Amino acid sequence: MPRKPESVPAAPPAEPVTGWDEVLSAFGPDPNPAPPPSPSTEPTDGPLATARAALERLSTWVPIRSLARRHRRRMIEHLLAMDAHDRYLRFGYAASDEQIHKYALGIDFARDEVLGIFNRRLQLVALAHLAYGDPVPGDPTRTMAEFGVSVLPESRGRGLGRRLFETAALHARNRGIDTLFIHALSENRPMLSIATAAGAIVERDGSESAAYLRLPPDSFGSQVEQALERHLGELDFQFKRQAQVISDFVDSVAEVKAHFDSSGRAAKE
Ligand SMILES: CC(C)(COP(=O)(O)OP(=O)(O)OC[C@H]1O[C@@H](n2cnc3c(N)ncnc32)[C@H](O)[C@@H]1OP(=O)(O)O)[C@@H](O)C(=O)NCCC(=O)NCCS
Repeated sequence: MPRKPESVPAAPPAEPVTGWDEVLSAFGPDPNPAPPPSPSTEPTDGPLATARAALERLSTWVPIRSLARRHRRRMIEHLLAMDAHDRYLRFGYAASDEQIHKYALGIDFARDEVLGIFNRRLQLVALAHLAYGDPVPGDPTRTMAEFGVSVLPESRGRGLGRRLFETAALHARNRGIDTLFIHALSENRPMLSIATAAGAIVERDGSESAAYLRLPPDSFGSQVEQALERHLGELDFQFKRQAQVISDFVDSVAEVKAHFDSSGRAAKE
């Protein structure tokens, strides 16, 4: 840790007045001096801070796409690619292939939200499920959503889990949800680290932990941010799909060419 300086350095000598200041100072003091600068009235969490936070998020932008029923096959492939330990961390038990199918087919897309991140080959490398619950029993004014996530091992440690969490929190906030809930095993340090870094309160109960993140009410800025991210995520997916079509076309042309080359050689021989 850098050491604190022993004393505050002396203020630099005042800059000599130049230009208009010098000319005007010959007429004596200003009878109507400008009022001293008032302390900034911009709250630290005002629109400027929101815009700055949004820009920071865009600088580390990862295309996240909202998934629909038609993506179920990709979701199942993603979940089946996880080994027994990861399935245990994700679901709280080492889900069998059959249980994974059942889980994916049971997602209610009309109520919940599913978010995904695709790589260039359109493989689903990260998947998050935001399950919207009923109002909290005993307190109908409070609403909660549960967050569950998985990132394929080769794509971990690049912030994808954290970005999905932030996006899920934004979507939940924009739906009027006030608490994001995460149920994780106490040994799941990456997941708990994501939640605590966002400000969640973690309650440990032996091998299991529950994390609660209070969400602020939605705002115009948060709605715009979600709309912008949705459009960019969709654009990115379509771009990757076109690139995939072109790549497949180039591959098939190369295949046909190789076929004709070899049959031409055979005919010559
Ligand atoms: C949990 C999981 C989604 C994290 O995905 P990820 O993309 O690797 O996460 P990130 O890259 O965003 O990193 C998350 C944080 O965990 C930290 N982390 C990673 N491994 C860690 C470890 N072994 N111990 C402590 N912290 C760790 C990272 O440093 C990072 O923190 P930072 O942003 O402050 O640097 C992923 O490990 C996973 O899919 N696990 C299996 C399924 C699962 O556990 N799901 C969660 C239950 S709902």
